[in-house]
Amino acid sequence: MGQKPLFLKACAREPVERTPVWLMRQAGRYLPEYLKVRKEAGSFLNLCKTPALATEVTMQPIRRFGLDVAIMFSDILVVPEAMGMKLDFLEGEGPVFADPLKESSDLKRLKQPNVEKKLGYVYNAIEEMRAALPANVPLIGFAGSPWTLATYMIEGGTTKKFTKIKTAIYKDPVFLHGVLNALTDTVIDYLNGQIDHGAQAIQVFDTWGGILSPKNYQEFSLKYMAKIVKNLKKTGPDGAQVPVILFSKGCGNYSEEIAASGCDVVSLDWTADVKKIRRKLGKKVAFQGNLDPAVLYAPEAVIRKEVKKTLKLFGPEPGHIFNLGHGMEPDMDPENVQVLVDIIREESTRSIAKQ
Ligand code: CP3
Repeated sequence: MGQKPLFLKACAREPVERTPVWLMRQAGRYLPEYLKVRKEAGSFLNLCKTPALATEVTMQPIRRFGLDVAIMFSDILVVPEAMGMKLDFLEGEGPVFADPLKESSDLKRLKQPNVEKKLGYVYNAIEEMRAALPANVPLIGFAGSPWTLATYMIEGGTTKKFTKIKTAIYKDPVFLHGVLNALTDTVIDYLNGQIDHGAQAIQVFDTWGGILSPKNYQEFSLKYMAKIVKNLKKTGPDGAQVPVILFSKGCGNYSEEIAASGCDVVSLDWTADVKKIRRKLGKKVAFQGNLDPAVLYAPEAVIRKEVKKTLKLFGPEPGHIFNLGHGMEPDMDPENVQVLVDIIREESTRSIAKQ
């Protein structure tokens, strides 16, 4: 076996010579080469469902920027689709479920899918991606958290207000827990399949955990993510450990509870009080984050200043993976991503060597 990749070392809180880096939504519309393949695919879902094309767009940011980790190209919403919900991605509007879930009687529409059959295209893509990636660049598999998936399945698409799902919290929690339980079972199966087919780490995206009160975050989001963490395979087919990253956007306040789920890495956004959290939990879990993506709109000198600040906040101790606090945006300049990655390499090598 070769050297353990930097990213996997950092997840295990082992010493590294520099901080590994990847970016949420690193493959996407800010890259002209992505737009080309996206056009060729005809639709976003078709891109997700064609392993050769999904592999090509997964590789694009690795080739262009030399990032330390690849994330499989797919979407969190393929899970509700596999459970029987009709999904479309409309140009300029994002995801749409034409027939959202409304009440307990809708639960019978949700099937526990045979994941190998219904989501086999993802597993085929994972195998192709592993074959295409260099040995020192591990592949992250992922799923949405049950709570975040439920927001789309109940609201019918992207929302700013979350009226329907919040109504369900207070008016029909039995229905909501029914949806969350069904999703949790499918996500566990789906992620274990990703591990079997070669995903070397798993990230759970809880994009909307931050809209909940602390008590509701525990009851409707974290509880289900903790069940997922407990039921995932701990090692891949090659015997290597498969770390789990939890990303609840806007939930830095709950880092202690998130770490108690048994996850290996807590992913933080830019609103988190990193110094405080790291001091308290740095011996228990690794951290990922947390640069404000908007820094990428600024000139190089500002990017450097902000990278240095971020590295300093996490400190030189092992257990930091550099990332944005959320995803890349379509109007971001790829040139600035290269600037960012180069600066992270340079500054983190320097600060780790200084120790
Ligand atoms: O990070 C990566 O590079 C891997 C690919 C990835 C995508 N979506 C591709 C994508 C990942 C990890 C996701 C996760 C995802 N999808 C989340 C959680 C993370 C987050 O960003 O908050 C959520 C909430 C979704 C659901 C989703 N998919 C929405 C709301 C949208 C529309 C918004 C938008 O930006 O258009 C998508 C579409 C989507 N997923 C695109 C990409 C590259 C753009 C679609 C296109 O090319 O037309």
